[in-house]
Amino acid sequence: MLLRATNVSKSYKLGENELRALNEVSIDIPQQSFIVIHGKSGSGKSTLLNVLSGIEPVSSGSLYFNDESFSTMSERKRTLLRRDHFGIIFQNFNLLPVFTALENVCYPLSLLGVGDARRQGMDALERVGLANFHNHRPAQLSGGQMQRVAIARAIVSKPDVIFADEPTANLDTQTSDTIVELLAELNAESKVTFVIATHHDDFNPYATERYEMADGKMKGMVSKEVEELMSTERIEKNSVLETTL
Ligand SMILES: Nc1ncnc2c1ncn2[C@@H]1O[C@H](COP(=O)(O)OP(=O)(O)OP(=O)(O)O)[C@@H](O)[C@H]1O
Ligand SMILES: [Mg+2]
Repeated sequence: MLLRATNVSKSYKLGENELRALNEVSIDIPQQSFIVIHGKSGSGKSTLLNVLSGIEPVSSGSLYFNDESFSTMSERKRTLLRRDHFGIIFQNFNLLPVFTALENVCYPLSLLGVGDARRQGMDALERVGLANFHNHRPAQLSGGQMQRVAIARAIVSKPDVIFADEPTANLDTQTSDTIVELLAELNAESKVTFVIATHHDDFNPYATERYEMADGKMKGMVSKEVEELMSTERIEKNSVLETTL
């Protein structure tokens, strides 16, 4: 299994009280899957992405990347794991305002000390259709373009997994559609796995598995196969009903 969480809990201290943002969550994420996580506001989606991607430590439970446990790793080691294997896309793009599009994309590579960072950065911008905008700063770009720069930044280091937290939440429907299609294409053409938290249904057609969270718990999973089976069964049941009526 590429990525696995077993009985992961995450609590935050709020004064005297403890808030359990994740409550014994388990999930298996196979390579090249396109995982979509739904759930109401406050259900724990962002927290789950933050612990799966190693941004935040868990309170209890285990996390594995390629069967290697990383839930007990030091923060430094977790940072290295994230740098080498994970890409992250946020709702609010998180671009550095003083940097150009290209500099934003190259930033992770410059941390890695990659020699031809500029060329790889341009390739990534080209892939998201923004090569001509490499000199623009975030303030000179539209929301959709900013999100595409953020996607270029996430793919530039060729990660194994990309986590996307509400990547279309701040975009209009049409722009949102192009982002959904771009992520689905990247999933299909390279081996990159996606884990996406979203309120929207736009990602559903591409999802290999969909999950629903509520109150910090994983409520259930619908796999594509099960869904297809259910829809054929429904058709069969309907036709049986029609013929018996
Ligand atoms: N750093 C934090 N400190 C304290 N509580 C937090 C922190 N981060 C999240 N929480 C709490 O954990 C719970 C889950 O939050 P989370 O952000 O994971 O929800 P979400 O499903 O992503 O919601 P949304 O759809 O609004 O983004 C919420 O009750 C939230 O208030
Ligand atoms: Mg969230």
